This record gives sequence, C-alpha cells and structure tokens, in this order.
Amino acid sequence: MDFLAAYDAIPQSDAARRVALLRQHMKTGGPAMLRELRTERPVFATPVGVFVTRMPDVVEVLSTPDVFTVGVYGPVLEEALHGPFMLARDGADLHWHDRAHAQLMLPAEDFLPVRRLTARLADDALDRAIATARAAGRTTFDYVQEFAAPVAARVAREYLGFTDVPEEALHSLSQRVQRAVFVNQDRDPEAHAAGVAAGKELHDLVAGVIRRRAAAASSPGADDVPDDVLGRMLRTVLPPGTGRPLDEERVNHQLVGYLIGFQQNAAQCAATALKELATRPEELARAERLAAEDDDTAPFDGYVWEALRFHPFVPSTPRLCVREHVLAAGTPRETRLTPGTVVHAHMASAMFDETVVEEPYAFRPDRTPVHNMVLGHGAHACVGKYPARAIVPEMVRRVLLRPGVRPLPGAERALDHAGTPYPQHYTVTAGAGAPS
Ligand code: HEM
Repeated sequence: MDFLAAYDAIPQSDAARRVALLRQHMKTGGPAMLRELRTERPVFATPVGVFVTRMPDVVEVLSTPDVFTVGVYGPVLEEALHGPFMLARDGADLHWHDRAHAQLMLPAEDFLPVRRLTARLADDALDRAIATARAAGRTTFDYVQEFAAPVAARVAREYLGFTDVPEEALHSLSQRVQRAVFVNQDRDPEAHAAGVAAGKELHDLVAGVIRRRAAAASSPGADDVPDDVLGRMLRTVLPPGTGRPLDEERVNHQLVGYLIGFQQNAAQCAATALKELATRPEELARAERLAAEDDDTAPFDGYVWEALRFHPFVPSTPRLCVREHVLAAGTPRETRLTPGTVVHAHMASAMFDETVVEEPYAFRPDRTPVHNMVLGHGAHACVGKYPARAIVPEMVRRVLLRPGVRPLPGAERALDHAGTPYPQHYTVTAGAGAPS
C-alpha cells in the first residue's frame, strides 16, 4: 500500500501510530515515500510537525530566519556546548556576528592547504590500515574505524587546532553531542544527559588546549605558533563596536561547535559517498579515472557531491515557526503556518524535486551546485563549506587511487550502524599497499 493511503487509514486520533508509520517509512522507504509526498501532499502536516518537501518551499523556510528559527534544537545545542553558538541563534541575536567571524576563520584560501593536509593524513591512514590487516593475516579492514573516523579526527587536530586531544575522544564525544542535539528529537533523557556530559568533557579538554596555547604564545619563540583555526581565533582582535568580543570562553564554544559541525559529517560522508559510487560501477570507473587528475580536482569532486545527494548527512533540518506565515503563497500548495509549528525542511527531498531538478534520479556529476543541499542552505548553510569541500572529496579520492581498496563485492551497501544513527563499520578490501 502507498504510504499516504496507509497513513490516512489510521484514525487521526491515533497520533502515535501515525508517527510510528511515518518514521518507519522515512527509514526504509525514503525515496518512494518522499516522491509520493512531493506529488500528493508537498506540505504535509503531521503530529510531529509539518514536512516541507519541494525545493522552492525548503528554500523559503531556510532563507527566512526571522520566521523559521533554529529554536527546535538551539537550546539543547547551547546546553551541550555550555555557551552560546551561531547554530542556536538567529539574526541580530549573535548569529550574523559569530557567522561572520567564523567565515574569516574558515576562509576560501584554506581550500588547497586543507586538501593537501587531508591527502597526507588519508594516505597515512590507508597505509596503516592495510599494513595492520596484512600483519594480522586479514584481507579486509574497517573503513569507518580505521580510515574515515580517524582521518576526520586528525584533520580536526591539525587544521582546527584540537592539538593534543586524543582522536578517539574527538570522535566519540562529538558523536554523543550530535546524537543528543540533532537525532534525539523525542528528547530521551539518557541520550540528552550523555550529550551534555560529552559536551562538557569537550569544553574542558579545549579549555586546557587554549590555556597551553595561550601560555606558549607568550613565551620565547612565540612566533612558532601553529597557523590553525584555533591559533587564528586566539590572535584575532575584533574592532570595538562590532559586537561581543570573542574571549577564551567564546573561542571554546566556537571551536567545539565547529567540531560538532564537522567530525561525524566528514566521517559519514566519506563512507556514504564511497557506497553510492561503488553501487554504480560505471560511475565508479569514471570517478577512478578522474581521481588520477591532480591539476583540476573539480570534475572528480562533482562525483562525490552528486553521490552525497543520494545520501546526505543531514536529510532534513527542523525550524520553529515563530510568526504567522503563508508558505508557498500563490501556489496550489499555499499553507498558513501558525507560531509554534515545527517545520521540517526536507533537503533530501528537495534535491529530487522533479519540477526543479532535471532527471533527479539520474547520477549526473555535472549538475549545478544550486540544486545540491548537502551543505545546507540559507541563513545557516554550512559556514565550514570551504574546508568541507576539500576534506570530503579528498578522503574519497585517496581511496579511489588505491585499486585494491574497495567495498566487498556484493556488500557495497553494507554500512553497519551497529544500532546507532551513524555508520560504525564498513568492510573494504585491503589490496594495494601504495597509491596507483
Ligand atoms: C564535512 C562535511 C560537512 C557537512 C556535510 C556539513 C553540513 C552542514 C549542514 C547541512 C549545515 C546546516 C545545518 C542546518 O541548517 O541545520 C551545516 C552548518 C554548519 N556547519 Fe557544516 N558541514 C560539514 C563540514 C563543516 C566544517 C568543516 C565545519 C567547520 C570547521 C562546519 C561548521 C558548520 C557550522 C558552524 C554550521 C552552522 C552555521 C550557522 O549556524 O550559520 N561544517 N553544515
């Protein structure tokens, strides 16, 4: 039975069953269900909020922060970070100030150096994983645990400046915060408490790093401080009158917030992009050929972003409607929304809106980036987009340069979440020791 027929057959009074069916379909029948919603009920009111599934409407929600705020997860995010953060605020309430600061700290000029850093760390991780597998008499290794997660954490250490924080702590603590803030929509108290405690641990670890870095900066030989994002933040003095200064405590919130925006996203995207490519052998072969092109990586990168359109890290982001608003005004789907309504901007659906995106189900690596919402959209679109555009494709590229490292034939889709919301294991072959 189609989703909507099954949903409508449940009495409106039985909200719990309607929500259970909705969640089950979102999980297992995502694309077919979203296609049905886009066609039949593009603005879909449910007991857990209004799902907005067409591209122009998702753009409208995400670009109108004075109506649709991040109030759904903002307070939990700040509780976990133990202080204010841009992704928890809107407009003149700190958002534009801290976002402008972040854009200066994460500039477009970082693209090439971060790409080179990622290449080095990824090659090293692949060498280690292959050598470890061989030494143990194995022919495979775990792509998530031995490659994607540690490479992302090492980038966080060297680029963002989590200097001497253990990489395992960066990965597992950021996962707990991510889960509590963005996944735990029912606000399960245990997951919430775990996230807040993990955020405190990260805060305290970073406070130690900042103290050591500040002490080193005032000692002889201080010129020799690393040019990482933390170093930039500690050196930056904002002109008077440009809002709240970023003292050490606020720098702490910024840095930990960047980690929350980065670590799980990068680790998962490196896995899902490989999965999507590996399940399309012809596209994989083309991507492998392009991976060898060092001079211009843009054509290769198109394969990675197109692969992620089929499996984005953030499929949907919630917003809180704080003023009466007519969504999609003047169209047949025009809907009046009242304050207090939770609105889900479904980016994974929007990227397949057949009224806007040409042949949405075809794999087309040369699509306009305008139709790719993997890095979000609008007021809160990813402020780390320049490093993200270097890190994610380069992690995948270093793998494709090794013909012996590929998902197990027949198990290309076998990402193992081990009962969590994040991929935990993905078995790949440990064939070649050196890049091709
Ligand atoms: C690695 C791949 C990445 C992906 C897939 C990704 C994805 C996203 C998405 C979808 C959003 C929008 C969230 C929403 O609207 O609710 C976002 C926002 C954000 N991202 Fe990323 N991101 C990545 C990397 C990074 C990096 C490297 C950083 C920083 C170093 C970062 C920092 C942030 C921050 C601070 C925001 C909030 C911006 C604001 O509130 O204005 N992200 N990201």
